[in-house]
Amino acid sequence: MARILITSAIPYINGIKHLGNLVGSQLPADLYARYCRARGHEVLFLCATDEHGTPAELAAAKAGKPVADYCAEMWAVQKDLSDGFRLSFDKFGRSSSPQNHALTQHFAGKLAENGLIEEVTEKQVYSNADGRFLPDRYIEGTCPNCGYERARGDQCENCTKQLDPTDLIEPRSAISGSTDLEVRETKHLYLKQRSLRQELSDWIDSKSDWPVLTTSIAKKWLNDGDGLQDRGITRDLDWGIPVKKGDEDWPGMEGKVFYVWFDAPIEYIACAKEWADDRGADDWERWWRTDKGADDVRYVQFMGKDNVPFHTLSFPATIIGSGEPWKLVDYIKSFNYLNYDGGQFSTSQGRGVFMDQALEILPADYWRWWLLSHAPENSDSEFTWENFQASVNKDLADVLGNFVSRVTKFCRSKFGEKVPQGGAWGAEEEALIAKLSDGLKAYEAQLEAIEVRKAANELRALWVLGNEYLQSAAPWSVFKEDPERAAAQIRLALNLIRVYAVLSAPFIPDASARILSAMNTQDTNWPGDMNDALTALTPGHGFTVPNVLFAKISDEDREAWAEKFSGTRD
Ligand code: MF3
Ligand code: ZN
Repeated sequence: MARILITSAIPYINGIKHLGNLVGSQLPADLYARYCRARGHEVLFLCATDEHGTPAELAAAKAGKPVADYCAEMWAVQKDLSDGFRLSFDKFGRSSSPQNHALTQHFAGKLAENGLIEEVTEKQVYSNADGRFLPDRYIEGTCPNCGYERARGDQCENCTKQLDPTDLIEPRSAISGSTDLEVRETKHLYLKQRSLRQELSDWIDSKSDWPVLTTSIAKKWLNDGDGLQDRGITRDLDWGIPVKKGDEDWPGMEGKVFYVWFDAPIEYIACAKEWADDRGADDWERWWRTDKGADDVRYVQFMGKDNVPFHTLSFPATIIGSGEPWKLVDYIKSFNYLNYDGGQFSTSQGRGVFMDQALEILPADYWRWWLLSHAPENSDSEFTWENFQASVNKDLADVLGNFVSRVTKFCRSKFGEKVPQGGAWGAEEEALIAKLSDGLKAYEAQLEAIEVRKAANELRALWVLGNEYLQSAAPWSVFKEDPERAAAQIRLALNLIRVYAVLSAPFIPDASARILSAMNTQDTNWPGDMNDALTALTPGHGFTVPNVLFAKISDEDREAWAEKFSGTRD
């Protein structure tokens, strides 16, 4: 038994996430957490909302609410949806928590003590009408590169050129539209990442087992062009974590807050403290401090590829630079993008299917199965309604659902609703058990390696073995000549249903729970030896025939949904 710390990239607070966001971090993290728990490991699985920065402020302004209220409401909405998708976080925290305020200020203080913070005076756009500086997205204007009139202060959406707010032609405030702007001097803190370059590079080089997607992005940022830049970690905003050195004020930094990308990953740590504080306990450091027992923790992070630089360079720079024995990540699983029907999922344009909409039309398991079995691991992948319909109908309804239904119904009609006795297994059963044992090893290996799609394929292959056996054993024919032999076959098949429920739980937890309840068992032990696992339900054990596990998606439904989700949500 090992101890495994798992974090998913924390979703921005501004709005409900789409299925592309879900499959890019939280859902595969949940798959892995559930698997690790099922294997008896001690797991701490954390996620939170990422509540600071301009997107949160702007979204709150658009909703006409104070930003703190907006964040509290959206946290509740996101928490509800994560429960709806059965994301089994031990804690779903908030980056605005008091715990994160304290820890973020603590880290800044340590970095300063270690000479890794530089105070830099720079020029920034100030809006007289708004009475504030306009960082990043608060300023709009014409792109100097392509002439697009609604370019933002950080980037032109049209030609993708990275911009500084001072580059924009005819700049205006995104808050008030005012053009009464001037350039003023302001002071900011920079984290001297460049002086940690060698340590970061050695650390990344030591991770030979990381996925190529992760290391290639990390090395590109480490080595390309100017290499690792020093990074501004403060902003002139109201909403955020006030800039302090630990508990002390930071002269010259009054009224400023930390940059969202500085405090967000620190929430991974603060979230563990939130989790402990909730229970009045003090056991969070054993997950995070190597001097307090965390040296035997395996720490695995999940995220989309756009998040990789922050997790391979910036956050490790914060941790290493603190000089304190905090745990560094052991393995980073990153994902490409999921596209939607010939284009991109887009939060700003409301394009695609969003978490709330998905649960309104179908239960979580349908989405979990499709998303995980099509996770964008080696390349981007695409959601289409045809593909979704085909996978659900084939894998879930025809293969798994059908097996459960045929076996339980046949048993009920010939032997009643209890595991039948009599007969013995022969060569065919032994061959099946051998194949199941091999398949189980392959499935476990893919889950250990966090190869999500391959794991789904192995699980499906296990389901198929049961169907093939049933087809060739044909207990419905055998029963006429040799009811005892049919009883032995069905006893095996009923036991296999329980085994499927256990093995499938990380992917489709609700269906798994329904199957186990129909099989009238609480034995969720992961199969060690297949022979033993397939005799867990003994003759005479009662069960009930479950209702349809997975309804097929009809062509009419598919067409109606494709139509409904073809535009953009308001
Ligand atoms: N909110 C960011 C995103 O959705 C992810 C933050 S991950 C953390 O892209 F490390 F900063 F926490
Ligand atoms: Zn442009």
